[in-house]
Amino acid sequence: MRKKIVAGNWKMNTTVPEGVELAKAVVARSAEVPAGVGLIVATPFTHLCPVAGVVGGTRVELSAENCADKEKGAYTGEVSAAMVASTGAQWTILGHSERRQYYGETDEKLVEKVKLALANGLKVILCVGENLEEREAGRHFEVVKTQIENVLFQFTAEEMASIVVAYEPVWAIGTGKTATAGQAEEIHACIRQILAGHFGAQVADDTTILYGGSCKPSNAKELFAQPDIDGGLIGGAALKADDFIGIALSF
Ligand code: 13P
Repeated sequence: MRKKIVAGNWKMNTTVPEGVELAKAVVARSAEVPAGVGLIVATPFTHLCPVAGVVGGTRVELSAENCADKEKGAYTGEVSAAMVASTGAQWTILGHSERRQYYGETDEKLVEKVKLALANGLKVILCVGENLEEREAGRHFEVVKTQIENVLFQFTAEEMASIVVAYEPVWAIGTGKTATAGQAEEIHACIRQILAGHFGAQVADDTTILYGGSCKPSNAKELFAQPDIDGGLIGGAALKADDFIGIALSF
């Protein structure tokens, strides 16, 4: 049975001391969240080691927000999957729309990143989602399907056990414009169907599919009540422990 997860993507926010305080505040309230709900904080690379010291031994898991598409070597400024794993992080987000949009992350590069993350024992939150223009042109299903085919279809059913999908419509990220529960469920159900078509019903049923985009305590309940929405990837609201935990209490 697939797991429910609430993951906070801190993006490029907080200094190290602020991040440590935020992680402590999340840990402090984590016992309120039902045991079946996984809690993950995804921090900047600089924060992974100190935050690992805070969340280590608690139920809160740690994620990076990205990793390199190369194993190691002369790639100044990059951080490898092995380096991320060596901090104690168990996860990495990959393919976030901000990386696709601002840093030229292609599906081809993502395949390499997912391979390296899995090879180093990391679990992956793979983001997919259409932009506003694609949504308005009615191309959202097609865009998401292509992203899934290009990346996830390069992996096996066994590898899918270490991969979570996050559907994040770009037009809903940081805009305050949430997809309606109906709009989100429609795509989530479609993603599950695409996975079923390729990997079989069992993998589709076991894959956690998160919604991301202006998710907050006030709208999480309705989103999480949808049969194919298994939790959230939270941006802005993850920067306040009370809001993040409030969202996790919405199941
Ligand atoms: P917001 O919750 O700030 O819209 O961000 C969503 C997101 O991009 C999470 O990865």
